[in-house]
Amino acid sequence: MSRKATITGLGKYIPPRVLTNKDLEKMVDTSDEWITTRTGIKERHLVEDGVSTSDIACDAAREALADAGLAVEDIDLIIVATVTPDMPFPSTACLVQEKLGAWNAAAFDLEAGCSGFVYSLAVAAQFIESGLYRNALVIGAEILSRITDWEDRSTCVLFGDGAGAAVIEATDKGGMLAFELGADGSGGKSLYIPAGGSLKPSSVTTIEEKGHFIRMEGNQVFKFAVKTMGYAALKVIEKAGLQPEDVDLFVPHQANTRIIQSAANKLKLPEEKVFVNLPKYGNTSSASVPIALAEAREEGLIKDGDIIVLVAFGAGLTWASTVIEWNEGE
Ligand code: UT7
Repeated sequence: MSRKATITGLGKYIPPRVLTNKDLEKMVDTSDEWITTRTGIKERHLVEDGVSTSDIACDAAREALADAGLAVEDIDLIIVATVTPDMPFPSTACLVQEKLGAWNAAAFDLEAGCSGFVYSLAVAAQFIESGLYRNALVIGAEILSRITDWEDRSTCVLFGDGAGAAVIEATDKGGMLAFELGADGSGGKSLYIPAGGSLKPSSVTTIEEKGHFIRMEGNQVFKFAVKTMGYAALKVIEKAGLQPEDVDLFVPHQANTRIIQSAANKLKLPEEKVFVNLPKYGNTSSASVPIALAEAREEGLIKDGDIIVLVAFGAGLTWASTVIEWNEGE
């Protein structure tokens, strides 16, 4: 059997400060009832001023390394999935490398919207399976509160901050069995930040136009998500040579309970096999899947031999999924 990559450690960081739907009622024309019924979100966590994405990425990474029993100098590769890097360059992964003191690691960022963490797992797996590296640290970290227009009720109720991390190593039993990655760039304008890049550099005008905040056509993204999540999950299960009924736990991107429900229905999964923590954290983009996975394991929902499906969709538009036969090894 060929060598596979597997997750041997998990960590997460959730900022302590909570913003509830009731708090949002005082900020924009919305209601707890609307947010709860349309999205499933009850509250989200936000970082304090001065905290950066690399800071919270490091908090999650340290927990994952301790969980895997690896020392910082053991890390060969750091990939940070984020749409909220500390700055355009250097990469957040290089900032993380310096803060951790991971001097033996190559480091780069990967940007695939909310699918970024699962995309990064696929990339890291190639390095491990080829034998080029022994281990990798894959982090999804976001401070979405800094790119949210807090006067736009159609987006500000959805997002939160947080980070999740996974250590990836080789295994000869189970591991990440298959991946399905995809993109549809024609949907890019459904979810984007108009300014601050080479096309529209930052200027007084871009600030006045609020061009540095998330713009989203919610129902377009919703339709894409409903179509894609079920498809990506079914496809990757098939690639792994399995059936939906073999799945022990489904860990989807936490964006909207209606989207999660529709994907779970396509797989005919009972409620207890679908992990949902969206009410507590909102949508944390590329941090959502690793936070959910870390929390599911903390809750005792994952044991060696289990078949776990991760699936995400996001800006790009993109989608990504993987099937893991859980095996943390020694
Ligand atoms: O990770 C990827 C990131 N993006 C997503 O996951 C977003 C996917 N999309 C969604 O989750 C849903 O489309 C939303 C939750 C964003 C919106 O739900 P919807 O059922 O698609 O509502 P809608 O956008 O069609 O809006 C319905 C109404 C509108 O009012 P009118 O035009 O019918 O009078 C909105 O103005 O709800 C209004 N509305 C709100 N009302 C109260 C929009 N946002 C709010 C709000 N509070 N926060």
